[in-house]
Amino acid sequence: MPAAPTAVLVGLGAWLPPRRVPNSELCARLDTSDEWIRERIGIAERRFAEPDVSTGDMAVEAGARAMASAGADTVDAVLVATSSPDHPCPATAPWVAHRLGLPSVAAFDVAAGCSGFLYAGTVAAGLIASGTAHRVLVVGAETMTSIVDPDDRATAPIFGEGAGAVVLEAGVPHAEGAMGPVVWGSDGSLADAIVVPAGGARGRRERDRAARGDFFVHMRGNEVFRHAVRRMAAAARDAVAAAGWEMGDIDRLIAHQANQRITAAVADTLGVPVGNCPSNIHEVGNTAAASLPLLLAHAADRGDLKPGHRTLLVAFGSGLAWAATTLVWPAGLTARL
Ligand code: UT7
Repeated sequence: MPAAPTAVLVGLGAWLPPRRVPNSELCARLDTSDEWIRERIGIAERRFAEPDVSTGDMAVEAGARAMASAGADTVDAVLVATSSPDHPCPATAPWVAHRLGLPSVAAFDVAAGCSGFLYAGTVAAGLIASGTAHRVLVVGAETMTSIVDPDDRATAPIFGEGAGAVVLEAGVPHAEGAMGPVVWGSDGSLADAIVVPAGGARGRRERDRAARGDFFVHMRGNEVFRHAVRRMAAAARDAVAAAGWEMGDIDRLIAHQANQRITAAVADTLGVPVGNCPSNIHEVGNTAAASLPLLLAHAADRGDLKPGHRTLLVAFGSGLAWAATTLVWPAGLTARL
């Protein structure tokens, strides 16, 4: 029996809103400092979209670039990973597909926090393996200022905005760019560790009495930090084993950009030199579901990811939810930024 088709990375794109927001701009309204944000999180600046630019707008920009990178003018499905959709209803993806000139294709959102991009990629790989789709556009896009309180120093310095996207196409297992086995999971007992309390079904009876802050992200940062390191390291180890690799084979660790200290701790736990962990948190912040595709695009563009590199991807975030997978970085792939 022939092997099921495998999802292969054939296109990569990214888009950042042009407005740079240095730490100094946040310090003007928050009880924090440039030094604290740089040392404790690793961020110097992030990008914010203009108020009339939405998650869907950024997803269209990144999606168009990924399709151009793939040389593809059509796909069979569009998946948008986001925690900051344009509307509670409908999903953002159908509008993105429409704007990309892809009428009638299946399109839906994936809500899995900062792991959303890898979750959406896993769903896309399943669609490809089952023969339901030949080529899928997977976007991670976030407008975090729609859910982050600008007056909360525990969250406001962390997050940034932008979008990244990949095109996955049916190919043969073990080809360069083929997605390896995925290790993923969740722990809903800690759902309240990163939560927007109001605006959903759970809080609907109190909606009229909800305070302004209830519509923004509340995060128990310190607790999340500890779980992030433990879960990312465990998922990464399992994904490497599932691929039949050894940790020493890993050339590049592409980790969700939540906090540079988290990346360093995960790398240290795994024994991967931190110099082999490309990073862009200092210039874009934590862009949640957009983080991994943005980092892939930036690392590829800078030559930090080279053809043949054995690459390990790992993400962690609200849910709590995590995911990890592997791939050999393909030749002939040019990121479009
Ligand atoms: O992407 C989704 C998943 N999210 C994450 O993975 C985020 C994980 N968490 C983190 O990255 C970190 O926990 C934070 C960046 C959120 C916080 O850093 P921390 O080193 O864990 O700080 P902390 O909460 O332990 O607080 C340490 C101190 C406290 O002061 P005291 O009690 O020691 O006097 C805080 O009040 O730092 C203080 N603090 C701040 N000081 C200046 C907390 N936030 C700030 C701030 N500026 N923005």
